[in-house]
Amino acid sequence: MSNVSRRNLICAASVGVVGPLVIDDAASAAGRAVIAVADVPVGGGVVVTRRGVVVTQPRRGRFRVFSATCTHAGCTVASVVARRINCPCHGSKFAISDGSAVAGPAEAPLPQRSFKIRRGKLYLT
Ligand code: FES
Repeated sequence: MSNVSRRNLICAASVGVVGPLVIDDAASAAGRAVIAVADVPVGGGVVVTRRGVVVTQPRRGRFRVFSATCTHAGCTVASVVARRINCPCHGSKFAISDGSAVAGPAEAPLPQRSFKIRRGKLYLT
């Protein structure tokens, strides 16, 4: 993203060079990896609460990312079991493949989030 490395920025700052602040993509908040793809089970998923998402792998090498906020009343989903994303509050269940509500009371799907995978790690985009 930038030709300016983090080390060069730190060096420039330490000698008083004034200029535009550029933060390396991998180190910025938006660029932090959500999870290593190797940590997402095939046919399952992982709720990453600190990032507000659920990362699933319905089939080997096919990943999906959904909002972790239940579309019924806003609880954070808590687990992924038997190909379902489960909300602890009122029992809604969502499919790991497309986030669709497969058991109520939720009716709307979990919104998908866009992402990229780079060097074995998944990033939101
Ligand atoms: S908030 Fe998730 S089922 Fe009600």
